[in-house]
Amino acid sequence: MKILDLEFKPFIKKDEISSAITRISKKINMDYKDKNPLFLVILNGAFIFASDLYREINISSEISFIKLSSYNLTSSSGKVKELIGLNETVFNRNLIIIEDIIDSGLTLQYTIDALNDLGASSIEIVTLFLKTESLKKDFDIKYIGFSIKNEFIVGYGLDYDGFGRNLKDVYIQK
Ligand code: IMP
Ligand code: MG
Repeated sequence: MKILDLEFKPFIKKDEISSAITRISKKINMDYKDKNPLFLVILNGAFIFASDLYREINISSEISFIKLSSYNLTSSSGKVKELIGLNETVFNRNLIIIEDIIDSGLTLQYTIDALNDLGASSIEIVTLFLKTESLKKDFDIKYIGFSIKNEFIVGYGLDYDGFGRNLKDVYIQK
């Protein structure tokens, strides 16, 4: 299968993803009973995973969506990221960040720092995919769907240059 200039082959089927989601949601439902967690979905990639996962959550909870905007400062060489879309008060809340995939972990590190600054009571992470080899930071990621090698995947919300998010299964670069 081709997306733009890259060839992909089948990797993980929707059924396997569903089983992983069932396993993860059971754990969360137990761990967060009576904790009224606030799920924070990192857009864009995590929206499909989050919609399937959240429908398996049967405890009192809320969900909201955030995004990291990055913009170049002309006066600086670096990129500055900003957390946008957070309307809920996170002070004293038990947060669960929903990510599609964690690669270097830099996106996640920035998000965690920003949420800690806002006084979150606890922060745990649920990610569908974790690239174990590329993770730079020593994170404690509590809920993981699949640990994968440092390879490029698309589908089920994950994109290649904006395309492929609507694929039901996950594909890997050939
Ligand atoms: P990190 O900051 O290096 O952890 O990058 C994480 C972000 O990079 C994810 O939220 C994705 O948007 C993107 N990403 C990393 N690996 C892949 C991949 O294999 N396929 C699609 N997007 C990816
Ligand atoms: Mg993403």
